[in-house]
Amino acid sequence: MKKEVLEVLKSNKNKFISGEQLSNRLGVTRTSIWKYVNILKKEGYRIESISRKGYKLIEEPDILSKDELLIELKEEKLGNNIYYFETIDSTNNYAKRLALEGAVEGTIVFSEKQTGGRGRLGRMWSSLPGTSISMSIILRPTIHPNEAPKITEISAAATAEAITKVTNLQVGIKWPNDIILNNKKVCGILTEMSAELNNINYVIVGIGVNVNVDEFPEEIGNVATSIKKVLGSEVSRKDIVINMVKEFGDLYYDFINTGSLERTVDICKKRSVTLGKIVRVMNKKETIIAKAIDITKNGELVIRKDNGETIKVISGEVSVRGIDSYV
Ligand code: BTN
Repeated sequence: MKKEVLEVLKSNKNKFISGEQLSNRLGVTRTSIWKYVNILKKEGYRIESISRKGYKLIEEPDILSKDELLIELKEEKLGNNIYYFETIDSTNNYAKRLALEGAVEGTIVFSEKQTGGRGRLGRMWSSLPGTSISMSIILRPTIHPNEAPKITEISAAATAEAITKVTNLQVGIKWPNDIILNNKKVCGILTEMSAELNNINYVIVGIGVNVNVDEFPEEIGNVATSIKKVLGSEVSRKDIVINMVKEFGDLYYDFINTGSLERTVDICKKRSVTLGKIVRVMNKKETIIAKAIDITKNGELVIRKDNGETIKVISGEVSVRGIDSYV
């Protein structure tokens, strides 16, 4: 019921709504309404209460609570099923457990803090409570497992678009899925999959965004940044999450329904910090130094070696000279 009270207050933001109206609308006593309003106040909502006038929501805190997200995402294709934790080992680990138990596509796991956040290549990922976004989305795409890398690019495109929409900052994408601000990493994406030979059981897209982080541990300070550090002011994590989930749903279902990655590739090319640069591509077999020259309509990175040979890279660890850690 707290969620329903919050929903009515949010839809009447900056306007008074009487306790009687609220209680009639929601079918609970005025005392219950008063109780829920007090809980919301404790959570950080600024609500004015005046006798005979009722309640007025004035300010909402930047919390990624389950209630907030369910209200904000109720019209969206993704995010109708939300799990929220104060602390968890890793949202990807939890999402994996949920997926194995049959969780539906679009289920999202959030946590304020992760004690065992994971990055790519077995690296660790640190996320500080209250200042970053740590979330994992469960997907069940009806595509061939070979196409799964495309989902990573969709995530990067959606996150970059959301950050620009909320902050006006022109963030870049380091192919395939790092989000870059001023040559440093502001967001990392870890896509994991369980599949059989021809079909995917589930994909987990784990996204970590450094939003209002002030200081990073020394060992990553030269490669990581936050939106706040670049913008100079705090940004609403909630606004970024909402825009990201919306954009993700748009791009993802466009791809699933049409089979075309065109919209995502357009965004990735427009924002690319990789194209035109010398890159180092590492895969299981070898390390190649070459120039990144294009991204194909299927999302592969095209690189050209010094001897003129061109190679299409589907996935792999790519470092760009001058960005992140590659010098
Ligand atoms: C990387 O750049 O190496 C990927 C980092 C991915 C971090 C996110 S935070 C939410 C989700 N849970 C995890 O344990 N990892 C991802």
